[in-house]
Parts: sequence; structure tokens; C-alpha cells
Amino acid sequence: MRVLGINAIFHDPAAALVVDGQVVAAAEEERFSRRKHGKRPVPFAAWELPELAAAWCLEEAGLRPGDLDAVAYSFDPGLSRDAASLGLNDPWDHLRVDYARRAPQFLGAALPGLDPEQVRFVPHHVAHAASAGLSVPEDSAVLVLDGRGEVASHLAGAYRGGELEVLKCQELPHSLGLLYEDLTRHLGFLHSSDEYKVMALASYGRPRFLNVFRDLVRTTDDGGFTVERIDWDALAKARTADGEMTEAHADLASSVQTRLEEVLLDLARWTYEAAGGPKTLTMAGGTALNCVANARIAAEGPYERVWVQPAAGDSGTALGAALAVTGRNVPFTTAALGRGWTDDELEAELRRAGLPYTRPESIAAEAARVLAANGIVAWYQGRSEYGPRALGHRSLLAHPGDADTQTRMNDVKGREQFRPIAPMVRAERFDDIFEGVNPSPYMLFVHRVKPEWKDRIPAVTHVDGTARVQTVHTGTEPLVAEMLAEFERLTELPVVVNTSLNTAGRPMVDTPREAMELFGSAPVDLLAIGPFAVHRATAFQK
Ligand SMILES: [Fe+2]
Repeated sequence: MRVLGINAIFHDPAAALVVDGQVVAAAEEERFSRRKHGKRPVPFAAWELPELAAAWCLEEAGLRPGDLDAVAYSFDPGLSRDAASLGLNDPWDHLRVDYARRAPQFLGAALPGLDPEQVRFVPHHVAHAASAGLSVPEDSAVLVLDGRGEVASHLAGAYRGGELEVLKCQELPHSLGLLYEDLTRHLGFLHSSDEYKVMALASYGRPRFLNVFRDLVRTTDDGGFTVERIDWDALAKARTADGEMTEAHADLASSVQTRLEEVLLDLARWTYEAAGGPKTLTMAGGTALNCVANARIAAEGPYERVWVQPAAGDSGTALGAALAVTGRNVPFTTAALGRGWTDDELEAELRRAGLPYTRPESIAAEAARVLAANGIVAWYQGRSEYGPRALGHRSLLAHPGDADTQTRMNDVKGREQFRPIAPMVRAERFDDIFEGVNPSPYMLFVHRVKPEWKDRIPAVTHVDGTARVQTVHTGTEPLVAEMLAEFERLTELPVVVNTSLNTAGRPMVDTPREAMELFGSAPVDLLAIGPFAVHRATAFQK
């Protein structure tokens, strides 16, 4: 069965292709269009489809649109209701529903040869749920923690034998995702985009408004919750995008973050009981990218294992919709589902750019040497990642032992200095250095850095003593593991700084040309692209 999944309705348009129980390809439209998040999440843009990502998925599999058995679209306009009746102040929301109804025709036009009759609407939160629950081999409880779908903001359920039983959906306007978006906007950041900055900011504050939020945001006995209207200005004055960040702003972020964690723990516990005590919890939805909350659920919740879909935001509903139509568990084994280039293709690109390159015996060892000498490495290997995290395929790497690394990396990228940078660690060495969820191959949890290591890896230790760790496993990421092992041999540090290969406000690098553009425009010492090495010291001498 060949199913193409499409996410288009809110933000992060994406496409994913599942063929005979295998995820063949999945990618966000932003990696093709070079527009961060693909589009702004406004009703006027709801018609825009991930045309480039969808066409590439088919090309990757050697399929034509007419070969598909189904196209799964991650929103069901039949479930929608008038925005005012949902308590939403969005007079143009009906455009979303109109565009979604016409999506089969739009898709037919975007993918010539596709029969619009093949398009199936999958409820938004069923798509999120499937992206998590059908991505693990075992039965699980599932929590979707979102801004909004058709009429709800959350879904609690149980997957048994590939079948979803919905236990509870919290209807709008009550929404933890929209609460966090409102906070993001109030703090002068871009909502539906910069929520992770708010999470980072929270650790600089004290939760001194916690009691206010305990009053305004409450769980209910039936597995749902209520969010009352919040007078943000009464707590801390709204900040403009370039305004000063005050202690009150950090305290506000800290208060909402803490209350969110408490509420999510309650929801996770309720779902455990209602689902009959399964060992595994799976999660998706934009709020499930909150790795601080995820770590608390894993540590304090009743589950043995918590698995979060790496593309937890709306982009993941492309995969989830396809899985929901496929109707079976398709274990998620790698996020490297995007575009890749052969060595010959990479070499042709380097030649065309006129960059002097070498092909060292081991690109991993070459990168480790540059890192050990405190250089910055643009690491471009294999297929690009599906979801917002760089996981060793489109990564910017640096030495973790230099406290200035964070400033240098944030300067390279041109982003805020309070933003932490994250470590990748060889899985075998995790327990020596960190505490918390292991394995953590997709960077979806925060971990505690053991006290004796804080001074040894200051660049990746956040102000609160935590780090958002990616564990690297030789079986799935042999080249990254080799690089880490070589770096440890040179420095006795089994950890390397890993952040996404992009500059601020731009999508992650996807093509070789974009990798070279970044290398040319930022103070990066080595471009490690496939097996080839381009050193800054020699690249621009003519
Ligand atoms: Fe969503």
C-alpha cells in the first residue's frame, strides 16, 4: 500500500510517504522553499500545499501520483465548527475549512495524475496520535498535546494492535499549546515558532506567578483541563521583539513552564489509568517538543518508557496521517528521512563551486581533529532530518570544553545568547556524564549533568545544570559515533556540541549548495561534506 501524507492546514507543511509498511521519505516544505516553517500559520495560507516536498517524496520512491493508493490529509473539515462557537477569536478561520474541503482538487492540480478521490481526511489529532503511537512496535498510551486541531487541543488515547481508542479530547478554547503561544507572543517572540526560546528563558526565572497559573490552568477529573483568560500585562508588561528582557519576563516564562509541567504530569497519569496501565507512553503535538516537560513526565510519571515523535509539531502529521491510513505499527528507526546526495554528486558540487577539497582517510577523524583544536565544523552527512532537530546529519559541531563556545556558536548563527546549545554523546558513555532518559537519540528530553562534569563541558551545561542530550548509537549512526570516539581519544571528552546547520531565521541547510553557502558566510573552520573535507584555512586563498 502506497500512502502519501500531507500536512498543510496550520503550520510546518510537510509530506511523507509510506510504502508497504516502510517510511520511504518525509520532509518539511521549508527545506525546499527555504522559507522557515513553510508559511505563516494564518487562515489565508491554509490552501498552500507542500508541493515540493510531496513531489520529492514520490520521486525518491520512483512513483508517480497515479501510483498512490491514498493521500492522507491531516485535517478533517467535516469535524470543524464555527470559530466563535469554539471560543476562538479568529474571524477568518472558516477559510481553513473551505480550503481543506477543496484540498483534494488542489492536490490533484499540484500532483498531476492524482485522482482527487484518493484523498482521505484524517482528523488532525488522530494524525498526531498515529505519528507517535504507530511509530513504536508495542501497544502504548498516547497523548497529543497541541495548540489546536479541528475542535480540540488535546487527545488522550490508547493504541492496541494498531487500533486507536480515544479516551478523552479537550475541546477548545482550552488549549495548553495556545497558552504557550500567547506567552511567546507576549514575550516578543514569534508564536508557533519560538516557543523553545521561552522554554530556555524559563530556566533563568523563578516561578513567582505559579499560584496565579495554578488557579487559571486546572485539570479536570475526566482527563481534560481548563485554561481561563489570562491578563498577561498584569503580570509582566508585553515585550516588543527588540525590547529589553526583564526579570519579570523570565519569571513569567518560568511560572507558565512550571504549571505546564504539572498539568502534563496530571494528564499523563490520568491517561495511564484510563488506558489500563500500559508500559509505554507515546507523545506528539507541538507541546511535546517541550523537552523539560518531557523529562519530568519520564522521571515522575508512571510509565517505563516515554517515546516522543521527533517531528512532534504539525510537520509530523504528514507521517501520522499516512500511518493512520496504513493502519499498522511502523517502527520509527531514524529521523534521516529527507534528501541525501551520493558521494559523486557531492564531489561534482564541490568542483562546480571551485572549492579546494580533500578526501581524507576518515572524515570522522578529520572533523574530530578540527574540533579538538577548538574549531567549528559544518557536518553534512547522509539524508537530512525530518523534524526540527539536527541529529548529526545537518549539524554544526564544536568543542564542549570551552565556555566561549556557546557565544561563538550563537554568533555564527546570529541568535540570542541565552539560547543553550546541546551535546551529543556516545551512548556507551551517557551514564558517566548525565542522568535522565537514555536512550535519547532525538533530543527530546533534558538531562542533568553530573556535578563532576559541569566544569568539563561548560558549553553545553545550561544555567540550571541541565543539558538536552542526543545519545549516539553506533548501530544507527556509525559515522557520528566514530567522530565522537575519535574526539574522545584526542580530548578525553566523549561529548561534542551539536546545533542545527543553519543561520538564525533560516531553515536548516538541506542541499550541498546551501551547506557551501553557510560555510562561505560564517566563521566555520571545516566543512565535512560526505567523505570530503574543505578547510577554511585553504578554501578562500586564490
Ligand atoms: Fe497540530
